[in-house]
Amino acid sequence: MTDVRQWTVPGRVNLIGEHLDYNGGPVLPMAIDRSLTIKVRPRDDSIVNVWTDRPASTKATFPTTVQPGDVDDWAAYAAGTVWSLAESGHPFPGADLVIESSLPSNSGLSSSAALTCGIASALDNLFDFGLGRTDLALIAQRAESGYVGAPVGIMDQLAVLYGEAGHAVLIDTAASPPTTRAIPISWEDDGLILQVIATGAHHSLADGEYAARRDECERAAAELGLTWLAEAGLDAMVTLTDETLKARTRHVLTETARVRAALNAVNRRAWTQLGTIFTASHESLRDDFQVSCPELDVAVEAALEAGALGARMTGGGFGGSVIALVPLEGVATVREKVEARYDSHGWGRPESFVVHAAAGAHLVSES
Ligand code: GLA
Repeated sequence: MTDVRQWTVPGRVNLIGEHLDYNGGPVLPMAIDRSLTIKVRPRDDSIVNVWTDRPASTKATFPTTVQPGDVDDWAAYAAGTVWSLAESGHPFPGADLVIESSLPSNSGLSSSAALTCGIASALDNLFDFGLGRTDLALIAQRAESGYVGAPVGIMDQLAVLYGEAGHAVLIDTAASPPTTRAIPISWEDDGLILQVIATGAHHSLADGEYAARRDECERAAAELGLTWLAEAGLDAMVTLTDETLKARTRHVLTETARVRAALNAVNRRAWTQLGTIFTASHESLRDDFQVSCPELDVAVEAALEAGALGARMTGGGFGGSVIALVPLEGVATVREKVEARYDSHGWGRPESFVVHAAAGAHLVSES
């Protein structure tokens, strides 16, 4: 009988700590109950086939020795993972992979990390590489930075791999390797829910601006004589003279403080305070870090007007999703208000849904 193994791999939202994972700051993402399903079976002819239902029903085929530049578009994430595994000393004889997704496209819910981490986990398990989850996260990150060409941090991969039902994942990104801790999330016991508004927007600026922000943060850290910008003190606001670098640094410093305050609020079940911290984070990302866009800002404003305790963009920005902390009975009102505001702008309707903290990538069946 053919050995077919099926994996479930979640997407993630980031609760707080945006654009801190490449600045040595703390981040608090949460794996969600929207996921990819990956089926894998071995081959012995040095070929990898990948079928997917998103963006459309398509198939890609490449050799196990695939190199950067050979494959592009969505399949680059799969090819990049195969390449990165081989680079880390884990070649394999070939595989068929079938991928189905319940993550809306362009949603900024880490469908790319789900894909790279899911494929890396499935191949690790199928071929007995014995890799740990942090190793898999680093291999998946290298697939994006070294193959796809997106210089991402390590937050999404660790969230997708270390998620636990009912918990967020606190990551110390300054540690080498980065470390994780599960943080219990209990707002649902108090009648609240986390609502995602997937704007459907994806501004073409996204990739170039992400790299530009990283570069600005590195320049600010170098000017301050620091390895990590998140280590800067308030004196940085005096030392730095360039207004742009000052604004980026202000976001990194205040966001780091917001993560600490949010952890405290989560601990004390102080949900109004957590909501206020979410909204303050959005304002900082919009004004100081400048990674928001009209679709995100309007979704946040409408959610707040409709009674959300707080709302913010989540992920890299320039499109993607907003998260809002909402009383259970207010979910429909938030959705309707956001839709009405989008209609008045003539924008396509966003997708709204509630999410719960879910388990990280895991094997569900084998046959
Ligand atoms: C993207 C990247 C992450 C992180 C966020 C911003 O999701 O993949 O590494 O930098 O943006 O917090």
